[in-house]
Amino acid sequence: LNDLEKVETGFLVIGSGIAGLYTAHAASVFWEDIVVLTKRGIDDTATEHAQGGIAAAVGPNDSPLYHYEDTLAAGAGLCDPTAVEILVTEGPARVEELIRLGARFDRADGRLDLTREGAHTRRRILHAMGDATGAEIQRVLSETVRANPKIKVLENHFLVDLLVTKGVCWGALALDHREGKLKAYLAPVVVLATGGAGQIYQHTTNPEVVTGDGIAAAYRAGAEVMDLEFVQFHPTVLLLEGAPRFLISEAVRGEGGILLNAQGERFMPRYHPMAELAPRDVVVRAILQELERTGSKVVYISLEHLDPERVHARFPTISRRLKAYGLDLARDRIPVAPAAHYFMGGVKTGFHGETSLQGLYACGEVACPGVHGANRLASNSLLDGLVFGGRIVQHARKIKPEKVFSKAEAKEEGLIPGPPVDYARLKLELKELMQTHVGPVRCREGLEEALKALAQWETLNNYEATSLEEMEFKNMLEVAYLVAEAALMRTESRGGHYRSDYPEPHPRWQRHLIFRRQV
Ligand code: SIN
Repeated sequence: LNDLEKVETGFLVIGSGIAGLYTAHAASVFWEDIVVLTKRGIDDTATEHAQGGIAAAVGPNDSPLYHYEDTLAAGAGLCDPTAVEILVTEGPARVEELIRLGARFDRADGRLDLTREGAHTRRRILHAMGDATGAEIQRVLSETVRANPKIKVLENHFLVDLLVTKGVCWGALALDHREGKLKAYLAPVVVLATGGAGQIYQHTTNPEVVTGDGIAAAYRAGAEVMDLEFVQFHPTVLLLEGAPRFLISEAVRGEGGILLNAQGERFMPRYHPMAELAPRDVVVRAILQELERTGSKVVYISLEHLDPERVHARFPTISRRLKAYGLDLARDRIPVAPAAHYFMGGVKTGFHGETSLQGLYACGEVACPGVHGANRLASNSLLDGLVFGGRIVQHARKIKPEKVFSKAEAKEEGLIPGPPVDYARLKLELKELMQTHVGPVRCREGLEEALKALAQWETLNNYEATSLEEMEFKNMLEVAYLVAEAALMRTESRGGHYRSDYPEPHPRWQRHLIFRRQV
């Protein structure tokens, strides 16, 4: 560490999606020198890809109380009621702030045009450019942050490790992978906003950057992580030969889209009174059952009964992407299947994003403040990043953390360079393994097999990681292990975690699994 270039800053944010950029923006009221590190470009984030929207009780027939009830119901008994109350009551003000910053949400007759998604009892989803809500929010926050002289955004900076001594976080090691330089960023406040870990699965809606880096780094540093067995699979992701996996927003079903099986039968009413708008985990399992029953790899989403002009106007991005593959969203049956979408679990935090390590905060998908429980309500994730990002600033400002820059050595010292390994191939193997055994349906045999296979790769941790690909693989391995371990321990089914050998929820399991590494 002594030989590394060191950069001191008052407030360090790692990640540049909605949670990271909004936190940096909010911090600039109180801090003069904020650094945002991001793995690739500022807009290479999951936020950029969000389609459906952002949920907030701003409609005339809505109230935070209804939003609270819907969130708790979807969360299947594991939401923290206080965290949810914070989310739904503070959410509308945060959304108004986004609008003041320049976010152009869609309007009809001058009023916000609100849509519905699964398990919402009211229309409360704000959207932008039809189905490009995330891109609009990312645009506004990127512009806001870039125009702020107090905030410096450093792209192509990969989080290698957190710097922690005796339970206090005092910075992060980052690899500037364009320059091939390891640097130490020293700060009394460090905010993880690195997103989830969807890339540990073969089929995912997440962009390539989402490899669990923040969860793995926090765990290695001794922070508590929670609820990692709860992975949300999105029911409707394009599955077409030659096309990448692409999200067909839940808002498509919210606007009347129906699901048909390979025999052309509408099946969701057989599974749940809310039919296509049942909670996501219910729709996913219904689809999997239909796939098994019919021997098909896909079910179909159909909007044939709706006005084609309105369909194309409402979903311009999805329509355009499908057109490139010869499909018409309004007229064709669109082949879809579930894919990994969102991590409900993550680094355990309190109501102000504070983790179990002093000076370390987390918000957005990397964090687990308990708002999503076992199953996140659609479009609550963008809101979560805003609300808890803002709360971090309130907390860190009050406690005014001291600078505790330590002379400790970097942990990797003493490790030796490893043999040449094809990490790209290992990543694919890991993703396939997770998809097969730790996907939307799990059982003891499969989980044990996954853990055995993952353990074979553990020896790679004895070697010094030098390339970005290698470090990403090690992070994916760490998170995959935690997910599989937690999934094996939880002998029941609840929300995003389904065990075919324990298909029912059990009251004994109305509690959380929290892991912490001894450091
Ligand atoms: C979607 O548009 O279906 C995704 C919304 C979400 O995951 O909250």
